[in-house]
Amino acid sequence: MSGRLDWRSGPAGPLQGSVRVPGDKSVSHRSLMLSALADGTSRIHGFLEGEDTRATAAVLAQLGVRIETPAEGERVVHGVGLHGLRGSSEALDCGNAGTGMRLLAGLLAGQAFDSTLIGDASLSKRPMRRVTDPLASMGARIDTQDGLPPLHVRGGQPLHGIRYELPVASAQVKSALLLAGLYAQGETEVVEPHPTRDYTERMLAAFGWPIAFEPGRARLSGGHTLKATDVEVPADFSSAAFFLVAASIVPGSDLSLPAVGLNPRRTGLLEALRLMGADIRIENERSSGGEPVGDLRVRYAPLHGVELPEALVPDMIDEFPALFVAAAVAEGRSVIRGAAELRVKESDRLATMATGLRALGARIDETPDGAVIEGGRLNGGTVESLTDHRIAMSFAVAGLVAAGPVRINDCRHVATSFPGFMALANGCGFALHEAG
Ligand code: S3P
Repeated sequence: MSGRLDWRSGPAGPLQGSVRVPGDKSVSHRSLMLSALADGTSRIHGFLEGEDTRATAAVLAQLGVRIETPAEGERVVHGVGLHGLRGSSEALDCGNAGTGMRLLAGLLAGQAFDSTLIGDASLSKRPMRRVTDPLASMGARIDTQDGLPPLHVRGGQPLHGIRYELPVASAQVKSALLLAGLYAQGETEVVEPHPTRDYTERMLAAFGWPIAFEPGRARLSGGHTLKATDVEVPADFSSAAFFLVAASIVPGSDLSLPAVGLNPRRTGLLEALRLMGADIRIENERSSGGEPVGDLRVRYAPLHGVELPEALVPDMIDEFPALFVAAAVAEGRSVIRGAAELRVKESDRLATMATGLRALGARIDETPDGAVIEGGRLNGGTVESLTDHRIAMSFAVAGLVAAGPVRINDCRHVATSFPGFMALANGCGFALHEAG
């Protein structure tokens, strides 16, 4: 990715219509990996055409998996079986994707060949010991640069199952261990301090791998096979989140968001916004590909501040940048605690949001694990996304209600998770443009 792309988001009128957001990033990554390791051909519908998920597809192709793209959002993956991957002498580039790198670390730990996983500047600063340490206790050998990428994964290491209690709630770490567990002798059990998204568990079951799981706990043994299956990827709740906040704060708005994934480990923002007074309804709730989905309808409603229940944090871990914008324009004070994990996302999201909102005149105090935000009015101004996709989109939402235009520097990474965001946003009433 090269060149810089800045945005300008202007104040705009009511948001209206229907916005179909792209496929879920977490489900798209996992669908590629499990399809690749399965026996037979799997079809993926609703695949996210984002840079993160395309990077994972490219890595798997480099490892010898044939992946066809019959149409946008569709993939046909010719699985090579659990032991059919081929090593690559070239480094495997995960781009910006923490999910890609951490899950692949687990998957590659059990292979017969060596691999090197690399990423972009942001991913190269993200902590990897959280996966390499427990993988090492399963017998894996992975070298890091002082805990950071690149990861050099040594092949040919016999793995054995472990019982691991995660020190932080992380679906990526849990998933890496479960993927390594496919290759391990004996049982791998993962216990979480708070339940996190369970897509790996659900999808392993759908691909026919025996697995026992319940919120906060998953257990499997090595020595089985994955059978190809078709995957229906729901629309990404984390992408819908920007529109949920936008329509909640722009007077007169009434937006529909069809077929959004509503896995309960993802919908914490829905509850948080409702606690703040938002008017969001779920219509036509149904199941698609084993996942709950529904059509969301969000209408403007005056928001008030919230003392965010800490229990909601893991269920909305990617939605804090958007929540911060809602809190900054709500009436009264919001308090967020227990969210220190935000410091190790694509940027330090507590610091990046606090700095940006302050530049727009908001009153916000950053704390070690959260923030205290006094709601009020936002001014126009200039903010830095620090190449963090969710920061860029959140400030695009802030621009809707600021007293003047908001310039957002460095927005090119939005395509990692939400290609086409600008067109969809403008289609429902944003005034979002490239800044000269
Ligand atoms: C993800 C897990 C979360 C989330 C990320 C996607 C996943 O990360 O922030 O965007 O697909 O498993 P952590 O596991 O680090 O919390």
